[in-house]
Amino acid sequence: MERIRSADFFRPDNQEGIEARNEVAALAMEDMIDWMHGGGQVGIFDATNSTRKRRYMLMKMAEGNCKIIFLETICNDRNIIERNVRLKIQQSPDYADQPDYEAGLQDFLERLTNYEKVYEPVQEGSYIKMIDMVKGEGGQLQVNNISGYLPGRIVFFLVNSHLAPRPILLTRHGESLHNVRGRVGGDTVLSEDGELYSKKLANFIEKRLKNEKTATIWTSTLQRTILTATPIVGFPKIQWRALDEINSGVCDGMTYEEIKKIMPEEYESRKKDKLRYRYPRGESYLDVIQRLEPVIIELERQRAPVVVISHQAVLRALYSYFADRPLREVPDMEMPLHTIIEIQMGVTGVEEKRYKLMD
Ligand code: F6P
Repeated sequence: MERIRSADFFRPDNQEGIEARNEVAALAMEDMIDWMHGGGQVGIFDATNSTRKRRYMLMKMAEGNCKIIFLETICNDRNIIERNVRLKIQQSPDYADQPDYEAGLQDFLERLTNYEKVYEPVQEGSYIKMIDMVKGEGGQLQVNNISGYLPGRIVFFLVNSHLAPRPILLTRHGESLHNVRGRVGGDTVLSEDGELYSKKLANFIEKRLKNEKTATIWTSTLQRTILTATPIVGFPKIQWRALDEINSGVCDGMTYEEIKKIMPEEYESRKKDKLRYRYPRGESYLDVIQRLEPVIIELERQRAPVVVISHQAVLRALYSYFADRPLREVPDMEMPLHTIIEIQMGVTGVEEKRYKLMD
């Protein structure tokens, strides 16, 4: 289909435009329903859906397939609206071919007027309204006809998430004595190289977060992460048990070679399905992902930078969440020692930088 982008396309009396938009919406909704039938639990249908008619069309399509919760965000802050409009013109593919910012702006404002003419506030079905919540202070949340575990988690997540730009710095602890010997788990101290890394890390953080007085340092409860954080001064430190390394149960303290030799079936089962494999009396990657939920919500909620010093398996899961990587990739994701991954979260999405502090 030809790309039609001008405000005319969105005029409420443009029958052809309305039909084309409804058709695209229905196709996207069909796509999502297919995905839900394939085992998806939550899908986001991202559109304006600003008329009752459109919402009824979606509800009809969802009948017997999935449950719909409408999410309406209302913003009365001129500055935020202006910023969003600016980002739309600068970054949306809709205006990628429009080199003239002013012309783009005029067109988009006209498009908004066209939407305003037909806008009907959400009043039907299950819905959540977030009113002036962008700033993180004040604001209001309206919840209508929502019940059940998952919808409840969605509300909880929305209350805590925001788009204020802030970095999250992820790093594994400095090399531990078990790392040197190729042993999994345990609670050993740092090697010489590990100690050197802890100093380099402190230096890096001091420079990187010089103007960020409210930043925090999060570690696990294992000494290799606490020792890695020790040289960092001037920021509060918080220990999370949820950031502890995957519990390798009966294999704790063994090398992979020893596991292969002494428990070949365990070794093979893990190799076959590393994501689901649970160490006897220990954990699987799926267990780790589940226990990270409160950490993720808390990271979403933070407005100041956070440095997370944790472990290979845990960071694979955390990183995959923020970098939007599929579940199946989690257990084999590269997560090198002595490297900082900086994730910048904000309105423009997620950006990533890597700093390798040692060879
Ligand atoms: O070897 C370091 C380590 O953090 C171990 O403590 C842990 O069991 C392992 O990495 C996790 O990585 P994988 O899931 O690839 O075995």
